[in-house]
Amino acid sequence: NGHIAISNIFKSNYLGEKIQIKGWIKSVRKMKQNTFLDVNDGSCSKNLQIVTNTATIPSLRSGSSIIASGILQQLRKDQLELHGDHIEICGDCNVEEGYPFAPRKAYSSDYIRQYLQFRPRTTRFSSLLRVRDTATMALHNFFHDEGYIHIHTPILTSNDCEGAGETFTVIRDNRETLKSMTKSSSSSPEETYFNTKTFLTVSAQLHLEAAVHGLSKVYTLGPTFRAENSKSRLHLSEFYMLEAECAFVNKIEEIMEMVEKLLKNVTARILDEREDDLKRSSETFVDFRWLDKPFVVLTYDEASRILQDKTKFQGEFRDGASLNKEHEKFLVKYCGETPTFVINWPKTLKPFYMKECVEDESLVAALDLLVSNVGELAGGSLRDDNYDGLKVKLPHRGVELDWYLDLRKFGSTASGGFGLGFERYLQFILGISNIKDVIPFPRWPHNCKL
Ligand code: 4AD
Ligand code: MG
Repeated sequence: NGHIAISNIFKSNYLGEKIQIKGWIKSVRKMKQNTFLDVNDGSCSKNLQIVTNTATIPSLRSGSSIIASGILQQLRKDQLELHGDHIEICGDCNVEEGYPFAPRKAYSSDYIRQYLQFRPRTTRFSSLLRVRDTATMALHNFFHDEGYIHIHTPILTSNDCEGAGETFTVIRDNRETLKSMTKSSSSSPEETYFNTKTFLTVSAQLHLEAAVHGLSKVYTLGPTFRAENSKSRLHLSEFYMLEAECAFVNKIEEIMEMVEKLLKNVTARILDEREDDLKRSSETFVDFRWLDKPFVVLTYDEASRILQDKTKFQGEFRDGASLNKEHEKFLVKYCGETPTFVINWPKTLKPFYMKECVEDESLVAALDLLVSNVGELAGGSLRDDNYDGLKVKLPHRGVELDWYLDLRKFGSTASGGFGLGFERYLQFILGISNIKDVIPFPRWPHNCKL
């Protein structure tokens, strides 16, 4: 009857049975008598070998999609082979007609990225997509085991949560709008989404803060958008962020504990379930010894002193400044490549919603988590729950956040949370240098064609 996924062929016992598979040819070895095909269907990293009579088959090319049926046999220990008595080509794949990948040739990530429409079928990227899938499932399982409720937060929003002015504005693209934009110079694009200022969200945090007051523990994993005009290997215009909020939290340590537990749990599960795909999609050797060590914690002040000490750090650093990539990477190296929290930041470096430290009002109870290969992986804080203080801070932000202020007026709690860049996490565990190589269809400045 129906066809069987190759992953199931390796998991269950179909030996001696007649089965059908559907997939793409990875390689063809033509001998006088027999032709051998390696076929993959994306269900796992393994290929199934098919052997068939050279005389009876049409021209088979690597890249073509096929449906094959025959008896499954044991070739060697751990190696199965399908004796294909019937092979149907569904879609031919010919380099001469413009398919950009020739058989048995290795291509660089930069080359493959030019053909995003074909990238999911390459060996390395299909492994990456399975790792990404397992990471997604593991995150959801982890949060549910911890009693968190998943919330769908909006993509269209009227707030710029981070206040960094890196928002994309949404406009209603109809004739009327276009006419009014060209006719009167006074109508700015901000006014053109049904006359309200509307952005693509930069963070789900403020909506999660509304939800957490009532659900106690909430999280989301969704797309976020940043209009940074940056060509960096760590920035996308559209990326996925994992964000969590927790009510009745008074200490930044509780947030740190959560982030550490999450990263260790999810990474261990990926190593357990997807070791093969992890290896195939990694760019370099990745050291996972951090899984058995406690994360390092530095205060901003300690980090600053390390960076100003010329016997330790040779670059430039001014106390009170934010950390750039060079600083972040140095601190992680200095801490033995163990993930490192930097906490208690100068208020001036951080967004409006962070809570002041009890011991020093010039600091906020914030954390940045720094890791190998990427630098900043996550950011979080305790949230300012002082109604009067927030009220003073908000009007200067040019956005309507009365509803946010209401959260501090009615049934308010001390709360906190964090956001973690999902693509940067994949870069971290896979040692991948370019963030565009860990998301199926990357968006970055001037690149949104596919
Ligand atoms: O540090 P960020 O801007 O923090 C927030 O947005 C908070 N509101 C999160 C929260 O507390 N709920 O972003 C969080 C993380 C960063 O640490 C980084 O890993 C990632 O998101 N990130 C990006 N990833 C890819 N491309 C970009 N342009 C990114 N900007 C931030
Ligand atoms: Mg940050």
